[in-house]
Amino acid sequence: MAKFKLTINSKAVNVDAEAETPLLWVIRDAAGLTGTKFGCGIAQCGACTVHLNGAPVRSCSVPVSAAAGQKITTIEGLSADNSHVLQQAWIAEQVPQCGYCQSGQIMSAAALLANNPTPSDTDIDDAMQGNICRCGTYPRIRRAIHRAAAMKKNGTN
Ligand code: FES
Ligand code: FES
Repeated sequence: MAKFKLTINSKAVNVDAEAETPLLWVIRDAAGLTGTKFGCGIAQCGACTVHLNGAPVRSCSVPVSAAAGQKITTIEGLSADNSHVLQQAWIAEQVPQCGYCQSGQIMSAAALLANNPTPSDTDIDDAMQGNICRCGTYPRIRRAIHRAAAMKKNGTN
């Protein structure tokens, strides 16, 4: 066991853990942020997606030792009141079905829009291909990303 100092959603989180403990367990169990989900545990589904210094990563496959001292953002860190443009677009398009994959979807979409404010369908498909949705909400996800991009462009959020 070792001590690790993390910064999750701008808050300090100190944990005692094995160096190889997945960041996902620290986020959910130590920080109590349960919006980030466990799906496959092997970086194949995207349910556990968070941002590490703004880039999307699969937190099930990032050891806590690699995340220490970096800026970690989870779905709870996007906004405190669902005011983030993607959260608004997701609600408007009624994207979720069971909802399990959706925090990972939104975190991947947030990283996409941060780098590409007006993504094409191909850009969206490329950026989102690692996020699996067993409910098949892909068409609504694509529409919501386009809606969020338009809202940002028009200053309506
Ligand atoms: S739980 Fe991490 S990618 Fe599936
Ligand atoms: S909404 Fe059910 S898995 Fe995506």
